Amino acid sequence: MPANRFNNFTNYGIGIGLRIPHYTHILSRRPVVDWFEIISENYMVDGGRPLEILDQILEQYKVVQHGVSMYFGSVDPLSREHLKRLKQLVRRTKTPWLSDHLCWGSVDGRYTHDLLPMPYTWEAVEVTAQKIRQVQDFVEVPVVVENVSSYAEFHASEMTEWEFLTEVVERADCGILLDVNNIYVSSKNHTFDPFTYLNFVPAHRVAQIHIAGHSKFEKYILDTHDHPVLPAVWRLYARAIERCGPTATLLEWDDNIPSFEEVHAEALKAKRFLHAAQSSPNGGERAVAAAAKEILEPALAESGAAR
Ligand SMILES: [Fe+2]
Repeated sequence: MPANRFNNFTNYGIGIGLRIPHYTHILSRRPVVDWFEIISENYMVDGGRPLEILDQILEQYKVVQHGVSMYFGSVDPLSREHLKRLKQLVRRTKTPWLSDHLCWGSVDGRYTHDLLPMPYTWEAVEVTAQKIRQVQDFVEVPVVVENVSSYAEFHASEMTEWEFLTEVVERADCGILLDVNNIYVSSKNHTFDPFTYLNFVPAHRVAQIHIAGHSKFEKYILDTHDHPVLPAVWRLYARAIERCGPTATLLEWDDNIPSFEEVHAEALKAKRFLHAAQSSPNGGERAVAAAAKEILEPALAESGAAR
């Protein structure tokens, strides 16, 4: 299941996000990394240093594009200019799949530059799925959509978030970038069981998984991407790997970014789950559970409390 038509039949392993503070380390030391995820919008330019760096990275590493401004759920028409630039970058990076978020963020051409949660309605399912199909037809690589973390919900919603995600991807016939940290954050903010969400998602459509750290406040949890993955998220990740198999996984670390080695070491913890799933048939539930225990015990000791 990990290599499927939604990730172009690849088997990419563990990646990390390509971030500016790590450029010098990566280009001078050439560490062994399975793949890098880039934010497409940072490289949709005509030239200059960003593209020079990217070309050097591409000489040695596999790269996957992740977008933050497609706004599949907005009713505004897609920008042809944006799509053309995106396709140029797709040809440059040879990304096997292209991801962006299941959200909205613009009204009448005005952009919020935020990933806003959808109203989970049948009308929104249709609008969103149609847009994803348009993008997929244009860029000519599989498009996968990521579940966002959220802090508000619409009274107009007619279904749960996981039902909405499933309806959209079935109608668009696209893949899923399953962010298990986002599921956890939203489950705490909206009081639902994150395992109910995870168990409902169509596993055969999961092309990639995101893991990340979040911050806990008194009344809500914030998706901050500024520290290691917390034990509760590793537990969800273990369940995701049991269901989906050893799927390409990416650690997001976007604020208070530590050394390259620290970020990479945190990401590589996920490799134990993938090896466990690979090493035994039928998803290797017991092997994945053993890997989870191995990761969780030190993580719980560090955090000082079971979440
Ligand atoms: Fe994510």
